[in-house]
Amino acid sequence: MCGIIAYSGGRIAESILIDGLKRLEYRGYDSAGLAVARRKKMTVVRAVGKVSDLEKKLARRKLAGHYGMAHTRWATHGRPSEQNAHPHGDCQGKISIVHNGIIENYQDLKEELIAQKHVFTSQTDSEVVAHLVEEYFDGDLETAVLKTVQRLQGTFGLAVMHADIDRQIVMVKRGSPIIIGIGENEYFAASDAMALLPYTEKIISLNDDEMAVLNAGGYYIKNLNNELLEREIEICAGRDYLADKKGYEHFMLKEIFEQPEAIENAFRGRLVEAEGVSKLGGLEPVLERLKNMKKLIIVSCGTSYYAGLLGRYIFENLTALHVEVEVASEFRYRKLKMNEDTVVLALSQSGETADTIAAIREAKRKGALILGVVNVVGSAIAQITAAGVYNHAGPEFGVASTKIYTSQLVILTLIALLIGRYQDVSYNEGSEVIQAIKKLPKQVEKILADMEHVRALAQAYAPFEDFLFIGRLFNYPTAMEGALKLKEISYIHAEGYAAGEMKHGPISLIDENFPTVAIVSQDCTFDKMLSNIQEIKARNGRVLSVASQGCGRVRDVCDDVIWVPETLPLLQPILNIVPLQLFAYFIARERGCDIDKPRNLAKSVTVE
Ligand code: AGP
Repeated sequence: MCGIIAYSGGRIAESILIDGLKRLEYRGYDSAGLAVARRKKMTVVRAVGKVSDLEKKLARRKLAGHYGMAHTRWATHGRPSEQNAHPHGDCQGKISIVHNGIIENYQDLKEELIAQKHVFTSQTDSEVVAHLVEEYFDGDLETAVLKTVQRLQGTFGLAVMHADIDRQIVMVKRGSPIIIGIGENEYFAASDAMALLPYTEKIISLNDDEMAVLNAGGYYIKNLNNELLEREIEICAGRDYLADKKGYEHFMLKEIFEQPEAIENAFRGRLVEAEGVSKLGGLEPVLERLKNMKKLIIVSCGTSYYAGLLGRYIFENLTALHVEVEVASEFRYRKLKMNEDTVVLALSQSGETADTIAAIREAKRKGALILGVVNVVGSAIAQITAAGVYNHAGPEFGVASTKIYTSQLVILTLIALLIGRYQDVSYNEGSEVIQAIKKLPKQVEKILADMEHVRALAQAYAPFEDFLFIGRLFNYPTAMEGALKLKEISYIHAEGYAAGEMKHGPISLIDENFPTVAIVSQDCTFDKMLSNIQEIKARNGRVLSVASQGCGRVRDVCDDVIWVPETLPLLQPILNIVPLQLFAYFIARERGCDIDKPRNLAKSVTVE
């Protein structure tokens, strides 16, 4: 969602800010803007649309200032417009602020400030911050910001600057990430380390209720009681992953092709073949509690939620646990029974998803042990959880999650195996799972090598406006994830259903204009899936099947088939989703969609 980049140093700020905004584009946004100060004058330029639209506006004026801030906005309060884009300012045009998060009490504050004769120019919650700072400012920006944040309820990652205070930028964090970058006599700040990596690997991630003050001659960090803090500088080893498509047309395609490596990274060093078990260093501190747990609740959103649904089936197969899966945005309002025997496992690529954070905070309050499977190292969820496992899949830039999904499924299998081996899973069963996991990267490579077949099918199916995706057992969550991939990037209506549910409603939609994607595996549901496909064919529905190689009879009943290699039923979804990712990708491409940045979507959903 929204992104922040700020700079203070000897270079011209404008080009660094624009470059930073481009690196934040993958998060999703609908307007952008920047503010640069020079010789006590603040210049603010904002534009609706892409960063390139902002650049066009900037081409008409050269900004020579050495400190400034910029923002990409994903609209929450007020539609995408130039007035609502950040940075926002005070009445005198001296102060600029950019804000990520939501100011929950902004209405009350706005009324109070209007009564004090402040003039608002936007419909955003964020603008109150600029006017509050103005209200409290008497020559000392730091104190004004400290007083301001004491008035704010909600979440914020904030940057504030004043035209009269050369090269000073004040950053504050509560619930929305702020990373400080330390260069040679120059300082950066951003909401995402990706924006800083071309300039410096030396970073400090602010904790909640911390403030960083960047100045011409240095920086310091304080808490909100105005006490100086000693913070160690971390080295952010992500430079290899700088946003580069490496010759692929889109990040999504690159990330689909990175899956063999991402899967391998998920299990590398985590398999103990001699004992038929997995070894997860991140869970060792809580292993005793895990052995004694009675109930597991998986919480997540979107694609991570579908990984969670599959996680339930995987845990049911390998452990004796009672497993529930909840959409994170519902979890916190439910009256779920939880105590110290309960483990709540959060799945999240970004580690920033606001709903998932709210859910695990609620579970923590109830005494559950909180674990995380997170891709972004040091992210909010990684910090809140007691223990967890990193995906180590490298950054995912495409809004549509691909490699993290398959990586999550591998890690869920490893966690289930770890616990299952303390329960009923035998050495032989454990070894069988391990051997099958080791084969996955090569099997995914084989599917990817058949890309042209999927591309040709996508061209044939691209004109349809509605799709049904069906599967049973392990292939049921796969059907939902396949449908999500198609709808989010191609804007085609697609529904994922348990195949058995089809005759309870959706079958009424079937005709020659409503194709079905059926996911079929050689497991106990095979014959029932064939019956469902025949029911669709009997109603003139076109059927494309994703089938594993042992399912030869599928050929006789479907219009088209994509074959995938066979593995254990509980791992089959890792293979089955890959052609569906490609299918969605090529349909979206055929329809000319903005694949990496689909409309209205954001990569990190940081509002509830
Ligand atoms: C995936 O394709 C989506 N864009 C989205 O559903 C995503 O999976 C969801 O927002 C959860 O994100 P997270 O894994 O970063 O928590």
